[in-house]
Amino acid sequence: MKTILWATLTANGNYAQSGPDNPPTKEALADFVTHAAAAGNFIVGRRTFENLRNGGGPGSFGEVDIVLISKHAADIPGVKVVRSPQEALTYLRQKGHQTALISGGADIHNAFLEQGLVDEVVLNVAPVLEGKGLNLLIDREHYRFKHVELLGCRPLGGGVVQLHYAIGR
Ligand SMILES: NC(=O)c1ccc[n+]([C@@H]2O[C@H](COP(=O)([O-])OP(=O)(O)OC[C@H]3O[C@@H](n4cnc5c(N)ncnc54)[C@H](OP(=O)(O)O)[C@@H]3O)[C@@H](O)[C@H]2O)c1
Repeated sequence: MKTILWATLTANGNYAQSGPDNPPTKEALADFVTHAAAAGNFIVGRRTFENLRNGGGPGSFGEVDIVLISKHAADIPGVKVVRSPQEALTYLRQKGHQTALISGGADIHNAFLEQGLVDEVVLNVAPVLEGKGLNLLIDREHYRFKHVELLGCRPLGGGVVQLHYAIGR
């Protein structure tokens, strides 16, 4: 099963943090819905899921499998709660998925990167500068750099540019 990390970066290279005053662009959201529908699933961290729910719910994802990672969260109807990135992948693999879509937030993206569980990254560069402090990191202890292969590059509209890389494990 292939794993794709889908994330939005700011124009100054930070990990984008949306909020009521700075919502994600509709173009990036539409692209996320397309990726989730194509994969048939998405994996999400507990805090991002709660933000989605407080903002009116994760929206209309139909038959898409939603996998929530949390060390402590109780069961949630319509959502599979797992305790680790590896457990999320095992669950989706056993359900027959060919692709797993890792949708964030920062802790979840970094946990998958640190554990070497990402095959491809889809990065949307949003036309915004943010003076906040989150980053996508692999593992500062063991990686000085890692070359990746550019698979594609396209504008999504609204000033968003999408970059698609293969990481190679
Ligand atoms: N740029 C983007 O593409 C993007 C996408 C989504 C969200 N965001 C932004 O990211 C921020 C939220 O991200 P976040 O890092 O605060 O939270 P998050 O990654 O959504 O969720 C963190 C929670 O996930 C669980 N978790 C994380 N790693 C785990 C592991 N290895 N094993 C088991 N459970 C694990 C823990 O839940 P428990 O505490 O319940 O154990 C942890 O508190 C927001 O600012 C949001 O706007 C950005």
